[in-house]
Amino acid sequence: MTTVDKCPVAFPLRQPGQSFPPPQYLQFRKQQGLVSTTLPSGEHVWLVTRHEDVREVLTDPRISSNPSHPGFPRAAKTGGVPSQDEVPGWFVALDPPEHGRFRKTLIPEFTVRKVREMRPAIQQIVDERIDAMLAAGNTGDLIADFALSVPSLVISTLLGVPHADRDFFETKTRVLVTLTSTDEQRQAASKALLRYLNRLIVIKQKRPGDDLISRLLADGTLGKQELSGVSMLLLIAGHETTANNIGLGVVTLLSHPQWIGDERAVEELLRYYSVADLVAFRVAVEDVEIGGQLIRAGEGIIPLVAAANHDGTVFERPDEFDPSRSARSHVAFGYGVHQCLGQNLVRVEMDIAYRTLFERIPTLELAVPMTELPIKYDGVLYGLHSLPVRW
Ligand code: HEM
Repeated sequence: MTTVDKCPVAFPLRQPGQSFPPPQYLQFRKQQGLVSTTLPSGEHVWLVTRHEDVREVLTDPRISSNPSHPGFPRAAKTGGVPSQDEVPGWFVALDPPEHGRFRKTLIPEFTVRKVREMRPAIQQIVDERIDAMLAAGNTGDLIADFALSVPSLVISTLLGVPHADRDFFETKTRVLVTLTSTDEQRQAASKALLRYLNRLIVIKQKRPGDDLISRLLADGTLGKQELSGVSMLLLIAGHETTANNIGLGVVTLLSHPQWIGDERAVEELLRYYSVADLVAFRVAVEDVEIGGQLIRAGEGIIPLVAAANHDGTVFERPDEFDPSRSARSHVAFGYGVHQCLGQNLVRVEMDIAYRTLFERIPTLELAVPMTELPIKYDGVLYGLHSLPVRW
């Protein structure tokens, strides 16, 4: 077993000036794969870095996603994972069989066919964002103006959340996905979002629309409280993750222009950045052996998907951006029963976003040196705070 000293900063091991994934991941993987560490909260946790081991953790029924089990890593709770008591319907924190009822109800909304039908609406949102950028001049912040606004508008359109309320839900979400937010700030943000969605559901009961929340209300499988929690999960998961990936992807495509317009770039960008590296937290509910290491019941586990996606035994030259490789076996969307519900939507959003952006603004370039881009060292998700560009 390899032991790491108590993590000195908010857990992610991301440090200003350091590359991502953090160089320690490679060191851990080479040593043993599984590494024991202590979170800033004082809790002991296992970090899992090998691709094979990460997939095992995410599929073993003796390993739970439910934060109400003793030993569940606190960084997850403080990283925006509420429990069922706090937010009923937050099904990413449920294990089978309870989890299955939510998943089954939602899957028809996120199939490849369903997402294909959304293409014109997504294209329109992307075009309007670019129109606004062009109308504003020849400089901008690509995160605020595009990478965040596109997925935000797409998920609100799908759910039936008024576009005018974007500022509200984006601000509350940011509190939930910032590791340095206090428990009080996080609870307040979570309550405000739930109150907002409860009110929206009452409105949609009276005046249903052509949107996901109205369809789930009509379907009746989920109770109203559950529906608020489900909507909150989709709203949060649906914009921050994709926003980070779109922003980082633009930076990479600017320095690898030969891949612009090639749909293989999307899959490779998902692998390469693995922005949701600290999302799939778990706890062992029975003793279990992973990668030759005994993990005892009650011990927390963090499968580091960025480490797995840079595992050189699965991906040759893993730290190189190379869309010609087959990146499909990446675990950027997790693996097993909780594998990302929105993945088909993400692929379409990223594809349309990159194609249209570089087609309509072919002279796009960074307005600051790459080394000056403000990286989110304090985020549950890896990404950029802003991305100054000009054209
Ligand atoms: C689950 C990543 C975008 C909805 C997950 C998980 C990961 C992930 C790693 C697994 C969590 C776990 O095992 O505990 C990503 C990435 C995205 C993205 C990298 C974008 C680049 C989206 C979008 C939506 C979404 C756009 C909604 C439309 C969900 C939901 C779950 C989930 C509902 C929970 C599924 C379940 O528990 O069955 N995502 N996600 N995600 N994601 Fe995503």
